[in-house]
Amino acid sequence: MQLIGTISGEVMPTRFNILLSSSGVEKGSYVKIRHEQYGWVLARIDNIKRYIDNEGEEVVLANARTIGYKRDDNVLIPKTPFRPEERVYAADRELILSVMGLKKVKTKSIYLGLLEGHEIPVYLDIEKTIRKHMSVLAKTGAGKSYTVAVILEELLKNYFPIVIIDPHGEYSSLKYENDDYDAMLTYNVKPRSYEKQITEYAPNIIVNPEAKKLTLKPRFTLEELTEIMPIPLGDRQKSIAYNALRRLENQEYTIQDLINSVRLDKSNAKWKVISGLESLRSSGVFEGTPIRDKDLVREGNASIINLKGSEPRIQELIVAKICKDLFNSKKLGEIPNFFLLVEEAHNFCPERGFGDALSSQILRTIASEGRKFGLYLGVVSQRPARIDKNVLSQCNTQIILKVTNPNDLRAISQSIEGFTPGMENDIKNLSIGQALVMGECVEQPITVNVRVRESLHGIAQEREEIEKPKSMIEKIRPIFIEEEKEKIKKKPAKKKSISERIKGIFLEE
Ligand SMILES: Nc1ncnc2c1ncn2[C@@H]1O[C@H](COP(=O)(O)OP(=O)(O)OP(=O)(O)O)[C@@H](O)[C@H]1O
Ligand SMILES: [Mg+2]
Repeated sequence: MQLIGTISGEVMPTRFNILLSSSGVEKGSYVKIRHEQYGWVLARIDNIKRYIDNEGEEVVLANARTIGYKRDDNVLIPKTPFRPEERVYAADRELILSVMGLKKVKTKSIYLGLLEGHEIPVYLDIEKTIRKHMSVLAKTGAGKSYTVAVILEELLKNYFPIVIIDPHGEYSSLKYENDDYDAMLTYNVKPRSYEKQITEYAPNIIVNPEAKKLTLKPRFTLEELTEIMPIPLGDRQKSIAYNALRRLENQEYTIQDLINSVRLDKSNAKWKVISGLESLRSSGVFEGTPIRDKDLVREGNASIINLKGSEPRIQELIVAKICKDLFNSKKLGEIPNFFLLVEEAHNFCPERGFGDALSSQILRTIASEGRKFGLYLGVVSQRPARIDKNVLSQCNTQIILKVTNPNDLRAISQSIEGFTPGMENDIKNLSIGQALVMGECVEQPITVNVRVRESLHGIAQEREEIEKPKSMIEKIRPIFIEEEKEKIKKKPAKKKSISERIKGIFLEE
């Protein structure tokens, strides 16, 4: 046992100071103290200060918070304080794992990284982490997408089906191996490509030449059609559109069929509807063979919906349509349980007052009902204050990285049960790549140094604040021209020439 100091001054059951005698202790380290009544109790160092005392000696004083001791399946806090001047030791792995409720085995778990201040790997139970939805929140550049990709790698290893809404096309790099070998040694991670488990779809295959063309089923309710039309429809036109849709009820149809159905109307008001539908047709999103839900959600596969290069309104439309179809298929039991990850969630289910998105309603429904059917939601955002509160508060697992904006901190604190002011401070002081994990997957909130990725990290580019253009369809050029696609076809990311040599180190293990 490694002695690190003794309790100093006034002692309370939940808070006390430690006069440190060892230098290996830092903020976030776990320590243990023997309580005369309850045995070994775990505590965490929240703060450390150094000063010169009256005798001119340097003093290192740590402020500690009691976490508790394990009795049966519960973590309890001592009802009486520790003895003054009791000895304090570095906590051992067994005590930390049992009190923090962390898994000891790798099976069916997510290896997220190392516990802050320790070399202890953090394995989170997959089911407990995602089955009641998950949110990943932090300011820009704090490491959200990186952390999410680590989780996706772990889900793929476990053959868990995934659908990724990827507005910036940053997850396609799961196909390529990471080459940050030094960091891999620290986290005991090997480079890995997930190419065989990734299928990438994009509405815009000129910008994303490696993706398959994403085509949606042209099947609408009147409400959906009215919402996505580039020109607002009056009552007369709505009734024309309604009749046209009714005529096509219970059959497969294309946008052209819908246009033909509108043409049957005698009224001159039909021309405005036809013009709107022509614009929709030229967006290309509904042209081609529609993608099947069974292809999107498959055992061991991640389907990336790469929306890079598509107009915001089209992005919303695609997310709304895909989510609705998948939710219905899931309810009917036609597809396996799966994880739906939505990046930039504030754009797809914004809080009231921050605009409305075509996808808002279905994402709210999935957040409240999805878990019953085995549709697990993951939302990612750099603006927690701008995500629909109903969606955010349904996420039982929270992975919070550095946040400094007071509005965002408030939104986080309001959506999490048991959030303390101390946590707010912890979140402000996190470093890049450090995450506070809360929820059913851990007994107590923990801070994790998120592990290095096995696959390459793709960087998000061109994030514009979404301004909804009034006539978005006009701006969309037909986006399914095969020759263009061939011309611009990019080469896959090149690996460093030394990579093969260094990879040998891992392969020999
Ligand atoms: N766990 C980590 N280990 C190593 N590097 C990391 C880690 N997390 C983040 N980084 C570094 O920080 C950069 C930003 O991370 P990331 O792209 O995940 O940020 P983000 O929070 O998603 O930002 P944005 O809001 O712009 O999407 C990465 O390119 C990477 O260099
Ligand atoms: Mg990101």
